[in-house]
Amino acid sequence: MATSTTKTGQPLDRAQLEPVLRRRMFYTPSFEIYGGERGLYDYGPPGCALQANVVDLWRKHFVLEEDMLEVDCTMLTPEAVLKTSGHVDKFADWMCKDPKSGEIFRADHLVEQVLEARLKADKDARGQTIVVDEAKEARKKKKIKDTKIEKLDDAVVQEYEETLAKIDNYGGDELGELIKKFDIKGPTTGAELDPPRAFNLMFQTQIGPSAEKPNGYLRPETAQGQFLNFQKLLEFNQQSMPFASASIGKSFRNEISPRSGLLRVREFLMAEIEHFVDPEGGKKHPRFEDVKDVKLTLLNRKTQLAGSTKPDVLTIGEAVSTGIVDNETLGYFMVRIQDFLLKLGIDHSKLRFRQHMANEMAHYAADCWDAELFTTYGWIECVGCADRSAYDLTVHANKTGAPLVVRETRAEPLVIEEYQIDLERKKLGPKFRKDAKSVEAAVDALSQELREKLSLELEKTGKIEVQTPGVGSGTTELDKDLIKIEKRKRTEHVREYTPNVIEPSFGIGRILYSLMEHVYWTREGDGARAVLSFPPSVAPTKVLLVPLSSHQDFKPFIKKLTTRLRRIGVSNKVDDSSASIGKRYARNDELGTPFGITIDFQTVKDGSLTLRERDSTKQVRASEDDIIAAVKALVDGEETWEDISKRLPLFEGQDLD
Ligand code: ATP
Ligand code: GLY
Repeated sequence: MATSTTKTGQPLDRAQLEPVLRRRMFYTPSFEIYGGERGLYDYGPPGCALQANVVDLWRKHFVLEEDMLEVDCTMLTPEAVLKTSGHVDKFADWMCKDPKSGEIFRADHLVEQVLEARLKADKDARGQTIVVDEAKEARKKKKIKDTKIEKLDDAVVQEYEETLAKIDNYGGDELGELIKKFDIKGPTTGAELDPPRAFNLMFQTQIGPSAEKPNGYLRPETAQGQFLNFQKLLEFNQQSMPFASASIGKSFRNEISPRSGLLRVREFLMAEIEHFVDPEGGKKHPRFEDVKDVKLTLLNRKTQLAGSTKPDVLTIGEAVSTGIVDNETLGYFMVRIQDFLLKLGIDHSKLRFRQHMANEMAHYAADCWDAELFTTYGWIECVGCADRSAYDLTVHANKTGAPLVVRETRAEPLVIEEYQIDLERKKLGPKFRKDAKSVEAAVDALSQELREKLSLELEKTGKIEVQTPGVGSGTTELDKDLIKIEKRKRTEHVREYTPNVIEPSFGIGRILYSLMEHVYWTREGDGARAVLSFPPSVAPTKVLLVPLSSHQDFKPFIKKLTTRLRRIGVSNKVDDSSASIGKRYARNDELGTPFGITIDFQTVKDGSLTLRERDSTKQVRASEDDIIAAVKALVDGEETWEDISKRLPLFEGQDLD
C-alpha cells in the first residue's frame, strides 16, 4: 500500500495527527472513563462545528441546488420492513474466529491486512530500504504475528496483488480457501482459524412493551424510509418525474471488528439521496450536458478482475458513451459527488471512483461506483453511488400491495394486441368454492406466451390445465364453459411503471476523517507544528481574535468585533491568554481556524486591524469596516486570500510566527 503524504510532500504520520485531533477534541472515544466501547465516538466542539458545516454544504449542494425533497424518517424499523428489503437475510459480512483467543475478525479485512503486510516486508527486503526487523516492528504495531516476512517469489507477489485487487469480490467459502491457501493464522496466537461465517450487521431490538421477542431493528441505512414514503413524495411533487428525496440521519451497523477510528463505527451519520428515474430511455439526466466534460478517475470492474488497480482518467461523457458507467444519471451524480468533495477541501489526487465487482454488490444493486478517498488506512469508501434499479419499490409493493408506481397519461394512446381471458365467475364460485380466488389469480398471472398456447388447446380439446399452486394437486382443469381466451385489441391511455433508483450514499464521519487527513500538514519551525487547512466554508471557527495583550484598552475593540462578526454569521473565538501571539495562532492552526485578527496599539490609535491568513501566515492591515467586509467575502467564498492581499495593504510589522 502506498503511503499518504501531506501537501508539503512529507509522509503523513497518523501517530502525530491523531493526538492533535483528540487533544483539540475533534472527536473522542465514547464512554472512555468506563474503558470505552469499540466503534463508538463522541464529537467535541470543533468536530461538531465541522460536521455541521459539512452537512450544511451538503444540503446546499444537493437538496437546494438539485431541488430535492428532504425527509427525516424514524431510525426504529419494524422487522417486516427489513425482512422485505432483504436486510434480515442478506445484510451480513464474513467473520472468522480464532478459537484459541476468541478474537473475531472480518475475514476479508484479515486476508487484506496479512497480504499487505507480507508485500510490504517483501518490498522492504528487495529495496533494502527497511531492514526486516523494522518490517517486523511495523507488523507488531498492527498486531500481526506473521512469519512470512522474507522476500517473496515474483509469482507469489503477483498472486497476492491480484488477490488484493479482487478482495471485495470474494464470498465466505472463497475467503476460507484463501485463508488456507495463504496459510493465514490467528494474528496473536498463530492458531488455525475457524471457517468464515456470515454475521448480520443489524442491531435487533424490541419495539413496545408487549413485544415478547425482538420485533425490530435500528436502521442500517436511511434509504428504506425514503422508499416507503415514495407514493406521498410523488404526490407532493405533483406526480412529476424524475425527482429525488434526501435524508440526513444516524444509521447503525454492528461492525464485526471496528479498528479504524471514525472510518468504521457502529453508529454513524449518513446523508442519502434516492433519485427516482424512469427506466425507459436509458436513464437520461436533464443536466448531464452540463457535466459531460468533467474528468473522473475511474477504476472499473474489468481492471480489478484482471488483478490491477490502475485507474483511467476519463470524462464522464466518454465513460457513459462507452458503457463503463452504465447511464447518465449515475454519471451525473458521480460528478456532483466529486464537486462536493472538492468543495470541502478533499485532495483531488486522493480521490477515485471504484466500481463494485459482481459479488461485492449489495443484494439490491445493479451497478455501484464508490467514491474512495486515500488515507493512511488505504483507499476508503466514503460515498457509495448505486443503481438500485426497481428492487426496493418492487419488493415493498409486492409485500404490502401499496401502489409504489408512477402513472403517466400517454401523449399518444397505445394500442396493444393481446390474449385476454374471460372467466365465467358465476360458475367458478360454486365449482371451486374456497379455492375460486386462487384459481382466478393463477389464471390472471398467465403470460401471453402461455395464453396463446392454451387458447389453441382450448379450441382443439375444449379444456385446458392450469398450474394452480396450493389448490388440490396443483393443477386445475378448466373447460370451455368456464374460460374463454381470445386475441383482442386494447387501448392504453395511462402508462404505469416502477421507477428505478440511483442512490448516492454519504458516510459523513468517513468524509470528516479523510478530510482531516487531507488538510493536515506540519509547518517547519520550532518543532513540526500541525496545521489543518480547512477551506473557510467548513472550518469549525472562521476567525480568531487576538489582542496583543490583556491591556484594558483592547477590550472595547474585542467586544465590538465579536458582536459585529456574530451579527453577520461569522463564528469567532477570542484568545486573550498570556501566550505569545505566535503561540496563540499556532494553537488555532491546529483547529484549522483560517483567519486571525490582531488588535494592537495602532488599533487603539486609528481603529485599524491586521488580518492574518492561516496557510501563508501573511497579513494585511486596514480599517475595521474593510477587514470585516474582507472576512465575510472570504468565508462566503466570494473572494480568495489572493484577491484580498491584492486589494488591501500587506502588513509586515510583526513576525508573529
Ligand atoms: P464497507 O465495505 O467499508 O463496510 P459498505 O460497503 O458497507 O462499507 P455502504 O453500505 O455502501 O458501505 O454504506 C454507504 C456509506 O456509509 C459508505 O460509503 C460509508 O461512507 C458509510 N459507512 C458504511 N459503514 C460505515 C461504518 N461502519 N462507519 C462509518 N461509515 C460507514
Ligand atoms: N444505502 C446504502 C447502503 O446502505 O449501502
